Amino acid sequence: MDIHTDIPLKNYTTMRLGGNAKYITEAHTAEDVATIYQNAKAQNLPVFVLGGGSNVIAKDEGFAGIVVRIRIPGFEVVADEPGSTTIRIGAGEQWDSIVKRTVDMNLSGIEAMSAIPGTAGAAPIQNVGAYGQEIADTLVSAEAYDSLTNTFGTLENSDCDFKYRDSIFRSRDKGRYVITSITIKLSKNQPQPPFYEALQKYLDDNGIKIYTQQIIRDAVIAIRTSKLPDPKVNPNTGSFFKNAIVDSWQVDNLKRISPDIPLYDMGDGHYKVPTGWLIERAGFKGQLINGIRVHDKNALVLINESATSYHDLAYARNAIIDKVRDMFGIIIEQEPLEI
Ligand code: EPU
Repeated sequence: MDIHTDIPLKNYTTMRLGGNAKYITEAHTAEDVATIYQNAKAQNLPVFVLGGGSNVIAKDEGFAGIVVRIRIPGFEVVADEPGSTTIRIGAGEQWDSIVKRTVDMNLSGIEAMSAIPGTAGAAPIQNVGAYGQEIADTLVSAEAYDSLTNTFGTLENSDCDFKYRDSIFRSRDKGRYVITSITIKLSKNQPQPPFYEALQKYLDDNGIKIYTQQIIRDAVIAIRTSKLPDPKVNPNTGSFFKNAIVDSWQVDNLKRISPDIPLYDMGDGHYKVPTGWLIERAGFKGQLINGIRVHDKNALVLINESATSYHDLAYARNAIIDKVRDMFGIIIEQEPLEI
C-alpha cells in the first residue's frame, strides 16, 4: 500500500482549495480499509475518508492525519427477479458510470441521478438526489467497516435514517463507518411520470412523450450541463447550500416579505424553499466575492474562480448566509462536508 506524505488536498477536492494532508493513501479492498484504520490507531492518527472529493471542502490548515481514497471496485448482479434487479457495487466505482451501466441494462431507479460527480460509496452519505430520485429510494443496504468496533457489517436502508441530504453517516455516526459497497434494487419498468418539474418541462419543450431510461438520462444530462458548471473546468461542489426547510408558521411572514416566494409543501407541516431563489433575491447571482463566483445560471452553486484559500470561500459563504438571514430570517446551511 503506497502512502504519500504532505499532499495538497486541493488536488483531491473539486473546489481546489485547502492545505496539505499529512498522509494520503488508497484502499482498493475492504480489507485495506481495516488495515489503514488499525495502523492509524496504532500511531494515534485521525482518518478521513474521501470518495471523489466532489462534496468535500478542505480547510487551509490541512489535515494532520491520514486521508484514504476509496477505490474499491465491483459490479455484481446479486438477484434477478421478474420485476427487478439487485446489484452490489464497490464503493470506489464512479457513480455516473454505474448509472450508465444500469441504464444500458434498461433498469430504472437512478437514471435521473445522471452526471453527478463522485463515487458510489459517497452517495448514501448525503442521500444524493436529483430530479425526483434519491439514493434512499433504491438502496437496499450498505456494507461498511465500523471503525468503532473494528468489524465489518451491513446497514439496511432503515438503519441509515435517510432524510433530505442527510443520513447517519454525516450526522449521528459521522466518521464512524466507511462504506465499502452499496446494494441497490432497480426496477425493470420504464420510468413513470409525473417527473420533477424542470425535467417534465424539458421533455415537453422537446416534444418527448416516450420515457425510456436512456431518454430520461439524456434529458437530465442536458439540463445539468446547462445549469451546473463542470468541476473539471470550473472548480465547484455542485449545490453549495441545502435547500431551506421552514415550518408552516414561518410561511405567512415569508409571503409578507416576498409574495412570490416559491414554497413546496412537504406534506408534514414543513415547506421547502429553494435556496437558489433566496440567494438570487439577495442580489448575489453572478457576483464575485473574494474570488468565489456565485454561478450566474444557478445561485446555489459557488465556483472557485480565483480564490486561493478556504478563508476566501468562508468569507463569501458567510456574506451570503448573513444577507439571506437578514432578508428572510432563514439560516441556510452549507451542503458539502469539511475536512
Ligand atoms: N432557483 C432560482 N434561482 C436560482 C436557482 C434556482 O430561482 O439561482 C429556483 C428555480 O427556478 C426552481 C427552484 O429554485 O424553481 C429549484 O431549482 P432547481 O430545480 O434547479 O433545483 P435546486 O433546488 O437548485 C436541487 C439539488 C440539486 C439537483 C436539483 C434537481 C439541493 C441542494 N440541490 O437543486 O442537487 O440537481 O435539485 O433535482 O437539493 C447537488 O446537491 O449538488 C445538486 C446539484
